[in-house]
Order: sequence, then structure tokens, then C-alpha cells
Amino acid sequence: MDLFIVTGGSKGLGEQVCLKALQQGHQVVNLSRSRPSFKSPNFKHITADFSRGLGTIQKIEAVLENLDLASFKHIHLINNAALINPVGSLVDLDLSEMNTHLVTNLISPVLLSQVCARLAAEEKKPLTIFNIGSGAAFRPISGWSMYCSSKAGLKMFTENTALDLQNSKNKKIRIYHFSPGVLDTQMQQTIRSFKKKDFPEVANFKKLKTDHQLRQPADVADLVVRFCLEPKKFKTQSSVISVQDLEKKVR
Ligand SMILES: NC(=O)c1ccc[n+]([C@@H]2O[C@H](COP(=O)([O-])OP(=O)(O)OC[C@H]3O[C@@H](n4cnc5c(N)ncnc54)[C@H](OP(=O)(O)O)[C@@H]3O)[C@@H](O)[C@H]2O)c1
Repeated sequence: MDLFIVTGGSKGLGEQVCLKALQQGHQVVNLSRSRPSFKSPNFKHITADFSRGLGTIQKIEAVLENLDLASFKHIHLINNAALINPVGSLVDLDLSEMNTHLVTNLISPVLLSQVCARLAAEEKKPLTIFNIGSGAAFRPISGWSMYCSSKAGLKMFTENTALDLQNSKNKKIRIYHFSPGVLDTQMQQTIRSFKKKDFPEVANFKKLKTDHQLRQPADVADLVVRFCLEPKKFKTQSSVISVQDLEKKVR
């Protein structure tokens, strides 16, 4: 049995990742502010607010230290929790919302990765760090300076860590940045509600919904879990992958 540590498993993509991993008979620990609606003997929820950064990570570290990690074959950390707000131009952004965004989307997943890497190394267990990123990590999008920079930061952390692991010949830890495509979740509802002055591309996102172009989170979660369990089957050498890369390999 493997252990999946999922952040933001209360809804959207994270919830579906938890459900897929449970269906496959694995143990799942979810970290989010609200409790998911499902229950399972193999499921544990820990209330965690990632906007609080270091304090939250230290609380999680204490809980993970008390888990019997030695009993699992492989550990998977799915850094999924994130938010899109605030949007708009720099002068209009709220300082406190900017801080919440950067701590939730960038600082917390980076710190949690270190905690899991240390604990997995101590137990001599293989670890996958699967960072849910975004296409926004690759290009600036008007009004999204927070989201694009937090996801670009997570992508660079992934690539740099992958390089360090390669240079130190560490084959126990694998790390990925994954772009999941546009998903039919609450985050997209929020995106469609933005004012054009804050997010000029809003009409394109409304059209994606009316044209039924959004991916279902359950389909993407299925690929995420399958990839974590058997990455070799997907024959990818890169630490930066997208949903399209994984879909191509399962066709
Ligand atoms: N939706 C898309 O089209 C899309 C596209 C590209 C990338 N992504 C990425 O995919 C991932 C999942 O997105 P989604 O669409 O499933 O989002 P979502 O439906 O908005 O769900 C976000 C999850 O993150 C958790 N979360 C947010 N703030 C948190 C905090 N301060 N502390 C703890 N947990 C927090 C939420 O849990 P609580 O509210 O219970 O805390 C929730 O479970 C994100 O990394 C997102 O950036 C999404």
C-alpha cells in the first residue's frame, strides 16, 4: 500500500485525486481547511490552512512524524491546494490578499516538499512530489501577476530540485510540475466571475465553459494517480509535464 498526501482534497481536482487513490486501495491523508464529504477507513483528514505558511507546515510535520511511514511502499505528495485571487493590476491589489496568495500557492508547497523529502529519506522510502502547476507558469496573463508568478515559482522550484536530485544521483525522490488543463471546478467559476477590467481574458474562459471545453477533474485525477503509481509506463524524461503529455500516452 502507498501513502498519498494530498493538499486541497476537499473539492475540485484534489478531491478526485483522493477518491482515485482510495479506489486503488491506498492510504490517503488530506490537508485542507474544510473536511471532504467522503469517508473511508483508509482516509484521514487534517485541517490545515496553507495561507498561514510555516506554522501550518510545522503542525503537519508533527502529524506526519507520528504516522507509521515505514509501513508504506511509496509516498506521494500531491501539492494541489491553490487559489486564483487576487486579480487586477498591481496598484489595485490588496497587500494582505497578495501575501495569502503567495504563501498558499508557493511558500507552503515548497516547505511541505522539504518536510516530506526529509521524512521519506529518514525512512528510506521512495517519494514522488507531484506539484499541480498551470499553463500560467509559462506565460504572463493580464491581471494574473500573482497566479502566474506563484505557479512559475513552483515550476522553477520543481526544475531546480529535479536538477539537484539528478546531480546527487538521488533516485529515491521524483519531482514533477504538472499542468492539468482547464478544469470544471470552483476555481473556474471564480475565474468566470472576474470583471473585464481586472481580467481582460474573461470572455475566453466563459466561452470555454459554454463550448464544453473544460476537462472533468475525475478524468485528470485518474491520470495523476496512474502516473504517480507507474511513471515508467508514461515514458517521460522531463520533470515538467502536462495533461496532454499523459493523455497521449494512454490513448
Ligand atoms: N481549475 C482549473 O482550470 C485549473 C487550471 C490549471 C491549474 N489548476 C490548478 O489545479 C489545482 C486544483 O485546482 P481546482 O480547480 O481543483 O481548485 P478548487 O476547486 O478551487 O479547489 C482548491 C482546493 O485548494 C484548497 N485550498 C485553497 N486555499 C487553501 C488554504 N489556504 N489552505 C488549505 N487548502 C486550501 C481548497 O480547500 P479548502 O477551501 O477546504 O481549504 C480546495 O480543496 C490548483 O493548484 C490550481 O491552481 C486548476
